[in-house]
Parts: sequence; C-alpha cells; structure tokens
Amino acid sequence: MEFKDVMAQRHSVRAFSDRPVSDELLNDLLTTAASSPSWSNTQPYQIAVARGAVLEDLRETLPPMFDELVALARGSKLQQIKAKLTNDGVPDGDFRPVTHYPKDLQPRRNATGQKLYELLGIERGDKLGRHQQMRENFRFFGAPVALFVFVHEGLDVYSPLDAGIFLQSLMLAATDAGLGTCAQGALALWRSPLEKHFDIPGHYKLLCGLSLGYEAEETINTFSPGRAPLEELLIKAKPL
Ligand SMILES: Cc1cc2nc3c(=O)[nH]c(=O)nc-3n(C[C@H](O)[C@H](O)[C@H](O)COP(=O)(O)O)c2cc1C
Repeated sequence: MEFKDVMAQRHSVRAFSDRPVSDELLNDLLTTAASSPSWSNTQPYQIAVARGAVLEDLRETLPPMFDELVALARGSKLQQIKAKLTNDGVPDGDFRPVTHYPKDLQPRRNATGQKLYELLGIERGDKLGRHQQMRENFRFFGAPVALFVFVHEGLDVYSPLDAGIFLQSLMLAATDAGLGTCAQGALALWRSPLEKHFDIPGHYKLLCGLSLGYEAEETINTFSPGRAPLEELLIKAKPL
C-alpha cells in the first residue's frame, strides 16, 4: 500500500473477527515496529503480548473489575473512602487515568464520544448502553491478540513519547498487512492482572494497551471522528 493510503486506512477497530493472527505475522509486525526511532536509541519500552489462554483469562477477569469500578464511582462517598483505604476495586495502574479534561480539549473529546454513541444509536441518558460499550474495551473488542506497553520510568516523558512512536509504527504495519488495531488507554487501569501472567520489571510502567486482529464487519468500525482543522494545530508566528 502507498504510505498515504495506510495512514488513511488506519482507524480504531472496536469489533474484531475471531480469525487468528499467525505467530509469524505478529512477529513480523513487531519487528517492523521495533525499527522505530527512540531517544538515543534507548528503546525504553517493553511489550507483553497476550494471546490464547492468557488473553482469555484477562478477558474474563477485567470486565467484572470495570463493573465494580463503575459501581463504586456511582456509590456513596463512604463506600469510595472505604475502597481507597482497602484498595478494593480501585485501579492499580501506574499512571493516573484521565478523568477530567482541560477546558480547551473537552469539546474535541465530547464531539468524538457523542458521534460514536450516535452511530451506535445509544442515547445520551442510556447509562447501561454506554457502560456496555465501554466494557468492550476490557474484552479487547473480541480481538485474538492484546499487547500491553510498558515504559521505562527513568526517561521522564521521553519513554512514553518513544512508546507512542512504536505504537503508531505497529498500527501502520498492521494496517498495511490487512489487520486492525485499537490503542487503548483503558487497558492501563489495572496492572495486577498482568502481573499474574508476566514477569514485569518494576521499573517498567504500564502505559497503554492495544488490541489487534482482523476487523469484523460491524457498524462501529465505520466510525470516523475526523480531525480538527490543521490551523488549530499550528501555532501562528508573531509578526516581525
Ligand atoms: C493513547 C491512546 C489511547 C486510546 N484509548 C482508547 C480506549 O481506551 N478505548 C477506545 O475505544 N479507544 C481508544 N483510543 C482510540 C482513540 O479514541 C482514537 O484514536 C481517536 O478517536 C481517533 O480515531 P481513529 O483512531 O479511528 O482515527 C486511544 C487512542 C490512543 C492514541
């Protein structure tokens, strides 16, 4: 594929078919992504690949944890304080999840969410419908492969920057090979279920997850949120 076509065709896939991804193809995609540039070539990231029984275990474990979290968020202040003290049901990820958006970014976030729910026919007040859709994150949208990206704690923002470049390379390589992907910040909420399956070095912090596989023919995969006009991203030069 032409580079511009790969860029145009990559989109977040939120419904995967059960068609398996071969070891050889996955290895090939990861090898391509691993050629990404990084700060002083330090490659400050490590990837945990979940497939087969490990993935199925996570697919069973995570959705109820999400349900519990949502119930807690809707519960009383007392329940929330108790949960914080006991660490019960509270996310144990390494980075604080974004719950409040800056004023200038909130409109873009809202527009994206609204458009997605509109496409799916989920009404504004339909809390259950929204919950079920969000819950799909923790089922990896049915994907046969999930990747968890960990970043070295010692390079400050440059580790996540480098991991982001790696992720984009991986997503483009997957698109070029006819596969779909969805980067998922949601998958960084809990670290402990991953510790059960992977020997994760303590100085590597869970940044993000990514589901990967073949796209299913579902309405949700036609979602195209568009982008802000380029002028909004460019900082104007001051007149001399
Ligand atoms: C770092 C990162 C985290 C994301 N987290 C999630 C997520 O948790 N769940 C989800 O459905 N989409 C997630 N997305 C996908 C974005 O919503 C999506 O990239 C954006 O709306 C643009 O749509 P497109 O990818 O289809 O072009 C994430 C994307 C990135 C880059």
